[in-house]
Amino acid sequence: MRSTFSSVILGLVGLTTAQTVTERVIPTLSPQIDALPSLTPTILDPTAPDSQACPGYKAANVVQAGHGFTADLTIAGADCQAFGNDIADLVLEVQYQTKERLNLKIYPKHISPQNSSWFILPAHLVDEPAWDGKTTANTSDLKLDWSNDPTFQFKVSRINTGEEIFSTYGHKIVYEDQYLELLTNMVDDYNVYGLAENIHDFRLGNNYNQTYYAVDAGNSIDYNVYGVIPFYQETRYHSGGNTTAHGVYARNAHGQEWLLRNSTIAYRTLGGSFDLYFLSGQTADGTSSALTTISQFQVGCIGTPAMQMYWTFGFHQCRWGYENISVVQDVVDGYKSANIPLEGVWNDLDIYELYRDFTNNQVTYPLPAFTNFIETLHANGQHYIPIIDSNIYVPNPTNASDAYSPFEHGAELQTFIRDPTTGDFYYGDNWPGFSVWGDWLIPSTQSWWTNEILTWHKGTPFDGIWIDLSEASSFCAGSCGNGRLDENPVHPPFLLPGDPLSFDFLYPESFNVSNATEASSAAAASSSQASVISASPPLPVATTTTMGRTEPTPGVRNLNFPPYVINNVQSGHALGKSSIAPNATHNDQYNTTEYEMHNLFGLQISNATYHALLQVFPGRRPFTVGRSVFAGSGKITAHWGGDNTSTWGSMFLSISQALTMMMSGIPMFGADTCGFTHNTDYQLCSRWMELSAFFPFYRNHNVKAAISQEAYRWSSVAESSRRAMKVRYSMLTYMYTLFYYAHTKGETVMRALAWEFPNDPSLRETYGQFMLGPSILVTPVLIPNVETVNGVFPGVADGTRWFDWYTLAEVDAQPQENKTLSAPLEHINVHIRGGSILALQEPKLTTNATRNTPYSLVVALDSNGKASGSLYLDDGYSLVPDAIKLVEFTYADGCLKYTSEGSYASTQPLANITVAGLQSTPHDYGHGPYANRSSSYWGHGKPKGSTLEFGGKNCSSDGRSVSYSNGVLKVTGLEKDTGNGAFESALSLCFGW
Ligand SMILES: *[C@@H]1O[C@H](CO)[C@@H](O)[C@H](O)[C@H]1NC(C)=O
Ligand SMILES: *[C@@H]1O[C@H](CO)[C@@H](O)[C@H](O)[C@H]1NC(C)=O
Repeated sequence: MRSTFSSVILGLVGLTTAQTVTERVIPTLSPQIDALPSLTPTILDPTAPDSQACPGYKAANVVQAGHGFTADLTIAGADCQAFGNDIADLVLEVQYQTKERLNLKIYPKHISPQNSSWFILPAHLVDEPAWDGKTTANTSDLKLDWSNDPTFQFKVSRINTGEEIFSTYGHKIVYEDQYLELLTNMVDDYNVYGLAENIHDFRLGNNYNQTYYAVDAGNSIDYNVYGVIPFYQETRYHSGGNTTAHGVYARNAHGQEWLLRNSTIAYRTLGGSFDLYFLSGQTADGTSSALTTISQFQVGCIGTPAMQMYWTFGFHQCRWGYENISVVQDVVDGYKSANIPLEGVWNDLDIYELYRDFTNNQVTYPLPAFTNFIETLHANGQHYIPIIDSNIYVPNPTNASDAYSPFEHGAELQTFIRDPTTGDFYYGDNWPGFSVWGDWLIPSTQSWWTNEILTWHKGTPFDGIWIDLSEASSFCAGSCGNGRLDENPVHPPFLLPGDPLSFDFLYPESFNVSNATEASSAAAASSSQASVISASPPLPVATTTTMGRTEPTPGVRNLNFPPYVINNVQSGHALGKSSIAPNATHNDQYNTTEYEMHNLFGLQISNATYHALLQVFPGRRPFTVGRSVFAGSGKITAHWGGDNTSTWGSMFLSISQALTMMMSGIPMFGADTCGFTHNTDYQLCSRWMELSAFFPFYRNHNVKAAISQEAYRWSSVAESSRRAMKVRYSMLTYMYTLFYYAHTKGETVMRALAWEFPNDPSLRETYGQFMLGPSILVTPVLIPNVETVNGVFPGVADGTRWFDWYTLAEVDAQPQENKTLSAPLEHINVHIRGGSILALQEPKLTTNATRNTPYSLVVALDSNGKASGSLYLDDGYSLVPDAIKLVEFTYADGCLKYTSEGSYASTQPLANITVAGLQSTPHDYGHGPYANRSSSYWGHGKPKGSTLEFGGKNCSSDGRSVSYSNGVLKVTGLEKDTGNGAFESALSLCFGW
């Protein structure tokens, strides 16, 4: 949840007037929220030095190695001390690592063990791609050229076409201890995507600043957010209709900025090294694509995403503000009686005693009642996922009854991050009061964390863990609890939802149109609250000082206030604002500081949680959902979009955010559906429940004290949810199969239209629609008060056919047409791409019940009368399944075939087969494909007979039925013929009669 006062979103329960609530006592708040001075971000500072006036470097002493070369880089003039101390002697290392990947590293020549962590990101923290043992300059897709004229510059281009994909020509390389910079030249109107995490249009545009510093600030549009994945993919549309695509990954974990401008991108970091990976995006035939580039990034650079457990694809309900077990029980009952699937029940901080991790509130969530509640969920095929915050409460040393064993166990092991000025632990502040944080650089921290999780699981038998505040967030500046632990537990330094004068009267855009009466009452209450606050401010007014630019000091790094000020979204912009201070130190032998480690905290705590869950559930895929992520996080964790708002804009941007997460190897992604902060309304919540049904991670989550937003609270939202979930649950195996290919091949799950239809430049900015895998097109409604939606049907110019999910009617769309589709409130438009075969099951209220229903196949024909698809099956939870099954479907010339490999038994039968897109009643086969759509041969006559053979049996009897209308053939009642399991033997079925 969100935490700074400026951004904390305070709630509304009904429309209590501000006058009533002022009678409540305003809590004593902990201090120091704004104690850091305010800085001017360098990009907004006209007095900042021009780092391109630095001297640059000259290369010499080139040494060829089998798969690349090294050279010395020596500074080509006097130190410029732009934003740090210049490093005179550098090493350049170029490696042709694999056919498709070229790596360029630049790092200081003289690195000691003590300063190694300033510059070198260890491979044990973040995967370091390496040479494949065979590629050389001669077998690479890419080549690197360089020049010393006037100073060292390099460019990377494709060998087959000469296309230049990256070039620093005309720009200096700057390498200082707290500042690195290079610029690459860009083509006109370039199309760059990625640089996750951001809340921004999917196509980043040519005038955009991506600041990177993991931050506890939700919905910070165009600024830094929770995660850091420094990878972009560029697509170029060429005349002649073909496209090229490539990628660039900059492996560096420091605070950084990427400045996208008309003809350049500037890359600036606060330290580390240049460690750039250029991906050709090429396949064997020499063509390149976005999807190939993304796969090369995942497979070759960061690791492919974790396979998730089957049940995690069910629908999840969460909220902050479920006061006790019976409130949660009411939610479970509410879903059940509304006939809406509910798979995962989540708790936010409410379960804890005084916000302390690993506790159980003895009044509201007492054991064993709570254990029994969770066991009942399990018995009903449901699951339970609680929050764990990243900070650990420090008990008050003067109060013997304030014992808290998770702290005491960690303190015994000396396993927390330290305050460099005292040598003691670093005491920041968070929900429970003054707190410490685990130091994931030392091994004892893992055993401590595992032990706490194992112990807690005994009474709270969760199925997965939700990790919050992992930026890591702290509510005060510096080690503010130092010397003040006897005040613990201190209240957070801002009012909480439900505290006086903190009611949230905000509703979605257009609430005044759809809910006029409520809107005017909210507006009145809001202005009344505002006038009480302005007459008598409940919070001390923060005094903010401003601070000028710090200058580089020879021999010294200024960790808390580096000379280059990134445009951190936090007010005042200091790195230490709302997070652990950069100079906090770790317990490793080098006393690595947070300055280097900050962006990795989320990756590390998720990794530790993953390994703890492997101890709780040996052999099972750990399910953990984390807030701060880094490149490679997808191997261990799912991710949610953080503290978004209940607005149409937030819902719209969630699609772009999701697509960048798909590119970043974190496909188990979803947004807080219906919006986290503020109050939602029935329209927004209906549309959002529909939209998120097509995101891999599907969770409704809400802030404390806003109005309730479970799907059953409004009849329209309930109906929207039932209908959208029917589609989702029908295709769970499809989504699961997409994950299998993401996990094994780095394929994407949600897909941009531009990825699937790369030759259509008009799609480069289309992200109001998206695809789920290659076969499903989703066209959501993203604005209020409409009953239609406009969408494009890509590929129709090249013969792509599209079929309505619900009716299987073929869409009649023209190339580039923005077609208007009917979209009543309870309906989301979903279309199947011609050429697809989908294996579906019957939607039930849980994933397990769904999984046990018979299969049906939907065959949507392409313009050649063909289709194909695949299905992956396993037990749904094993980390290394002992049996799997992979089924491949094809349809051609009127014959449906499938073959399977693997020994996992698919015990459910195949009940139905539907073929859509036939040109007329099939009455024979073997006379050629259905390709000729105008052929009169298929357009006349009646079926010659009425028999259909299936496994040698007449299919038109014994409960089987065959029907045909409007191009759709339906065969039903095949269960008896496939009773030993749908895909236990190969099948070839031809529709001829
Ligand atoms: C991006 O950076 C430029 C300076 O290079 C600045 O003028 C612009 O305001 C910044 N944009 C935002 C949204 O901060
Ligand atoms: C794009 O198409 C043109 C014309 O068909 C061809 O000459 C060119 O080589 C193609 N480029 C790539 C990169 O495939």
